[in-house]
Amino acid sequence: MELSSRPIGVFDSGIGGLTVVRALLHHLPNENIVYFGDTARVPYGSKSPQVVREYALQDTDVLLRHNVKMIVVACNTVSAVALDVVQKRAGIPVVGVIIPGAEAATRTTKNGRIGIIGTQGTIASNAYNNAIRTLNPADEVFGQACPLFVPLAEEGWTDHAATELIAKHYLFPLAQNKIDTLVLACTHYPLLKDVIRKVVPQNVTLIDSGEATGRTVKKMLSEAGELNPSSMNPNLQFFVSDIPLKFSEVGERFLGMKLGRVQRES
Ligand code: DGL
Repeated sequence: MELSSRPIGVFDSGIGGLTVVRALLHHLPNENIVYFGDTARVPYGSKSPQVVREYALQDTDVLLRHNVKMIVVACNTVSAVALDVVQKRAGIPVVGVIIPGAEAATRTTKNGRIGIIGTQGTIASNAYNNAIRTLNPADEVFGQACPLFVPLAEEGWTDHAATELIAKHYLFPLAQNKIDTLVLACTHYPLLKDVIRKVVPQNVTLIDSGEATGRTVKKMLSEAGELNPSSMNPNLQFFVSDIPLKFSEVGERFLGMKLGRVQRES
């Protein structure tokens, strides 16, 4: 098969990466996509970097078996602690969500004060701080782990008083740093955008790292002449390591459309 018509491989710790697939489909409606979610072992956000690196290699191998042309690491936690091992193993282009998110944040901020919210693993890694400081050493970065956001998004509590209370707990202290830009550095947080918007000061711009990654992937593929030339409906394939209860219902909320057939693979 021509390289350009091969699918883009996307992997995540579970279901959350479907928000990144949604962004990819928005920017690249003709691309075939193979998605792998490690639903049997999610969450990655509270696990040690060593374990996440081990899992990330296994996730990469699943996608390589599907003959993908590039790999998008949708999971912020993996992008933060394991992008190097994925790149080394893959031998094809690999894009994580951190650099696109960091680039969008440095472009957006006016006062040079950027907030990052993500899993404990992403925040502890300082990966966003390092990426932003490399792009613009004058920018200041303030991180906040928001571990309860992941189950709230999966439960669909996007408009619930409890979610607003928890968001205030996490975000009020962060906003005290006078940030004017806030990066949603987790696959799940785009679902909580409305609540986050309500809780942070109006002058704060929200950056969706998955959305920024969609733009980066489009640019990379078009510069390399590797965009899929076919204008037929793309082939979307979803693989997971376990099919938990309510999987389709939750997945459709993240993807923003019907999931279709989901297959097990590990
Ligand atoms: N996909 C993870 C991330 O973006 C969130 C869920 C998890 O902790 O595995 O960091």
